Amino acid sequence: MTRVRIGMLGLGRIADLQCLGYREHPEATLAAVCDLDEARARARAADWQVPRVYTDPEQLFADPEIDAVDIATPHHLHAGHAIAALEAGKHVSLQKPPTRTLAELDRVAAAAARAGRLLRVFENFSYYPPHRKAKALVDEGAIGTPLSVRVKTAAGRPDRGWPVEMASLGWRMDRERCGGGPTTFDHGYHCYQMARLFVPAEIERVHAFIHWTHFPGGAAYDGPALISWQYAGDPPRFGSWEVIASLGLQVRSSYYASDDRLEVHGTEGIVWVNRCTGKLLDEPAVVLYRAGETRAFHDLPVDWAESFRLGTRDFVDAIREGRPCHQDAADARKTLAFALAAGRSAAEGREVAIAELG
Ligand SMILES: NC(=O)c1ccc[n+]([C@@H]2O[C@H](COP(=O)([O-])OP(=O)(O)OC[C@H]3O[C@@H](n4cnc5c(N)ncnc54)[C@H](O)[C@@H]3O)[C@@H](O)[C@H]2O)c1
Repeated sequence: MTRVRIGMLGLGRIADLQCLGYREHPEATLAAVCDLDEARARARAADWQVPRVYTDPEQLFADPEIDAVDIATPHHLHAGHAIAALEAGKHVSLQKPPTRTLAELDRVAAAAARAGRLLRVFENFSYYPPHRKAKALVDEGAIGTPLSVRVKTAAGRPDRGWPVEMASLGWRMDRERCGGGPTTFDHGYHCYQMARLFVPAEIERVHAFIHWTHFPGGAAYDGPALISWQYAGDPPRFGSWEVIASLGLQVRSSYYASDDRLEVHGTEGIVWVNRCTGKLLDEPAVVLYRAGETRAFHDLPVDWAESFRLGTRDFVDAIREGRPCHQDAADARKTLAFALAAGRSAAEGREVAIAELG
């Protein structure tokens, strides 16, 4: 294959970053865009110089001059859109969380297997250069054996950072359309992925406190929250993710008004990733402590947009090279089960074993 011809479906808030890798890749063409909102689709096409504009996903899937579809619609539409695209013979990059349930994801995976097309779930924290640097340090043994992952999310004043339309927030706050809470399911998918990335062991048990904060007018936010888990195997290893709803805090960010910090403890050292979507701390993005010495890594691309560039570029390259692409359905299933276990734990007030989810 020479050039990969991409069609983007769902041109809302995140499309601003999702388009970058496709527009910049020398071997890719952003050939079509599709959104129910025709004005939005036409505006995007004009900004990005995209020749074909659709408002019906079926028209995009039927376009013979499209090789691959990037799907960024609300979660309740993911399974239907992905299956239809795969059945039309397209490769699919599907935004996280891939689906609302494991059964939906299994149907998407079966459609990909039947079609013999590439299906990848797009999870960008795995591509964020400071996370990659920290992962490389862990993999080369810089902290010994990883024992624990701790993630902390500060969600700040929503009127700072990127403007996000009410429609974009609305479907997230509806559990039927989102699949869970906007924080602990939607955003949480990234944090559960980080928990799995840095300690390469299966997640066995999950416990979650998730408080729903209600706002006037019916909107609700699933924070604060505290989620903990145990990894399988010996020695016992635990991790935790805390969401602080600091709704008066101004988080410096060019994107969402929220930031995630991460700490991985090992038998011989500790590595910190001090920023992600925003920039809460004015500190080096990655810091390593080992053998009485602290080493800081300043010289890394830290703009969150870079994770989108790298992630979409990887999809194009995987299609061209006929290879798998991070993250496949089997891996996504584990992260999704983790997210669903946290939601079930909070709802039922008990610890949930991943095995219960099937
Ligand atoms: N990787 C990340 O960090 C990240 C960040 C934000 C969002 N996301 C994911 O991206 C996806 C989209 O999120 P968003 O914030 O851009 O949402 P959004 O609500 O801003 O945009 C969704 C778009 O889909 C369009 N749409 C809805 N139904 C449609 C249909 N049937 N056919 C065609 N278009 C339709 C809407 O008109 C809208 O333009 C979600 O899966 C979300 O979880 C990922």
